[in-house]
Amino acid sequence: MPPIVRALQADITTLNVDAIVNAAHSSLLGGGGVDGAIHRKAGPDLVHACRLLGGCDVGDAKITPGFRLPARFVIHTVGPVWRGGTQDEPESLASCYRRSLRLAAERGLRSIAFPCISTGIYGYPIDAAARVAIDAVRGSEDAAAMEEILFCCYSKQDLEVYQALLSDS
Ligand code: AR6
Repeated sequence: MPPIVRALQADITTLNVDAIVNAAHSSLLGGGGVDGAIHRKAGPDLVHACRLLGGCDVGDAKITPGFRLPARFVIHTVGPVWRGGTQDEPESLASCYRRSLRLAAERGLRSIAFPCISTGIYGYPIDAAARVAIDAVRGSEDAAAMEEILFCCYSKQDLEVYQALLSDS
């Protein structure tokens, strides 16, 4: 059975899935946006676990427990800062989705929720980012191991972008 791939509007910290993905800073030591929300809800054990990971490169991903979150795991990935699209941003962003799915598949996880990586503080335009995200998930061999892949949008506008793209193809 291919995975169910769908978008929803939610606070990702409330989702009861095997793993939520964090749009992290390369230090993995927390920050604003979704990163801040995840750390607040998970509690201080999360930053302690992250300290042991030695940071994370742009386009790569690392995994920790979810601690006080309903999600069992947090996959921390570092998206690219948008610099106009000429600095390999699409490839780096696609890599965030692929590497996160790889980690989830390696752990035998079946459900995963992604935020709109890089589209907040890092400035990646939502429409372009959503296309990259959907293509990367559809092109990932590891996606086949999942039952459900969620694109968790914080705003109604972002949800509408995803829904239009997902229903288009
Ligand atoms: N649930 C789901 N999505 C959320 C939530 C939430 N609780 N809160 C925000 N978003 P951003 P980035 C959405 O800025 O652009 C941090 O400081 C938000 O509306 O969180 O990858 C890190 O430490 C947007 O759609 O991440 C890094 O330094 C999306 O999450 C830097 O920001 C991503 O916005 C990463 O920037």
